[in-house]
Amino acid sequence: MKYQIITFGCQMNKNDSQRISAMLQKLKFSPASEINEADLVVINVCSVRQSAVDRAIAISQKLKVKSQNHNSKVKTVITGCILKKDKERFQRIANAVLDVLNIKNLPQILKDLGFQIKETKIKNYLKVAPKYDKNPVAYVPIMTGCNNFCAYCVVPYTRGPERSRPPQDILCEVKNWLKQEVKEIWLLGQNVNSYKFKLKTQNSCSQGRRAKLKTTTQKSKLIDFAKLLKMVNDLPGDFWIKFTSSHPKNLTDELIETMAKCKKVTPYINLPVQTGDDEILKRMNRPYTVAHYKKLVKKLRNAFKKYRKGLEKEIAISTDIIVGFPGEKRKHFENTKKLFKEIGFFMAYIAKYSPRPGTSAYHLKDDVLPQEKDKREKELTEIVKKTAFEFNKKFVGKVVDVLVLKKKKGFYFGKTRHYQTIKFPASKKNLIGQFVKVKVTKARDFGLEGTQ
Ligand code: 5AD
Ligand code: SF4
Repeated sequence: MKYQIITFGCQMNKNDSQRISAMLQKLKFSPASEINEADLVVINVCSVRQSAVDRAIAISQKLKVKSQNHNSKVKTVITGCILKKDKERFQRIANAVLDVLNIKNLPQILKDLGFQIKETKIKNYLKVAPKYDKNPVAYVPIMTGCNNFCAYCVVPYTRGPERSRPPQDILCEVKNWLKQEVKEIWLLGQNVNSYKFKLKTQNSCSQGRRAKLKTTTQKSKLIDFAKLLKMVNDLPGDFWIKFTSSHPKNLTDELIETMAKCKKVTPYINLPVQTGDDEILKRMNRPYTVAHYKKLVKKLRNAFKKYRKGLEKEIAISTDIIVGFPGEKRKHFENTKKLFKEIGFFMAYIAKYSPRPGTSAYHLKDDVLPQEKDKREKELTEIVKKTAFEFNKKFVGKVVDVLVLKKKKGFYFGKTRHYQTIKFPASKKNLIGQFVKVKVTKARDFGLEGTQ
């Protein structure tokens, strides 16, 4: 029995795919080297934006037509972050559809589809260790779900309410990755800053050696994200820590200070602002103001200046932004542009607003024309190009630590601690998956060039 997984969406989805892969291999499936060889195709989809749904549907349809033409027995199962409305469409093209929240039912579903499956009991899919795929970067979910209900977002519906994983499980998973020569750990969650876990600690106390009296007191200690970050940072080994995503409303002073003090945490943060206008923020149900966001950026920058040395004194800040939210007029958008210039983001994930059925914004008129959304996206991209270039220029002539990720056309490509992409001439030695020192020779809009 051979399988292939096609993944759409964010890092959380990619991590889910690694767990599904591990699950399938436990069920005696083996990976197919190409899709035509597969008996089972799992498509892990993302309902966050319509464009991702459309792409997933196109692929599933292609597969269906192909299997009909070749009379093949390939079965397709669709899972992932699926909205109810999209589920109906997926059901028409796949053999089975199941929400990511119910992934533990996958063995039973496969059995029902005619695969020879013996074991069908899986308690919690996060207990299934993800499959190591020789990637030096590993993603570790620390919490899933979201309670924030931003007006445009499907996640609280598709992934349900926030649940934090026990710190012991997280540390164990990180240690396992480190044993497999992973060099960078990403702690994942829809809102990592609201990570919370009540850890039960037992204090046993015997009174005297022969005393029959033994009192056990049960205490509980609250582990928040700052504490968890410190626990991961304290693990032995030479590795980097990054995390995503952070909500500005939960980025506390304590967390900012912990970040700056924990040296394995690299000087990079993704802090989604979504819009630079207070009125739109309110309508998006994002409970902070632009002034608060700017204050956070200032605190982050000051903390890194205080606790870090050299290039690390400067933190790279990226953001997520939505252009064309219902009711976003030129004047609102100009505020976003202003914020972009003021902060000087080194990267921005710019999305055009996409109405999603079931979310609260779905009832609002999608009144910004597609051409206008395109235009706003381009205008912001132009600003980020400039601010990223300004940021990258500061690295020219300096030696940076690089995690080497791939080799292509005579060049190595890697990431710096600040999360810049860097390209440098490849040597004969295989450096993939290793930390190396690279001298930066050139800055570009979205990356660096260097030599070893
Ligand atoms: N339309 C456009 N972008 C969206 N995002 C989430 N929902 C939507 C939507 N309906 C973006 C946000 C979020 C990122 C993961 O996707 O910017 O931070
Ligand atoms: Fe979606 Fe908002 Fe939750 Fe992020 S914080 S996952 S944008 S609802």
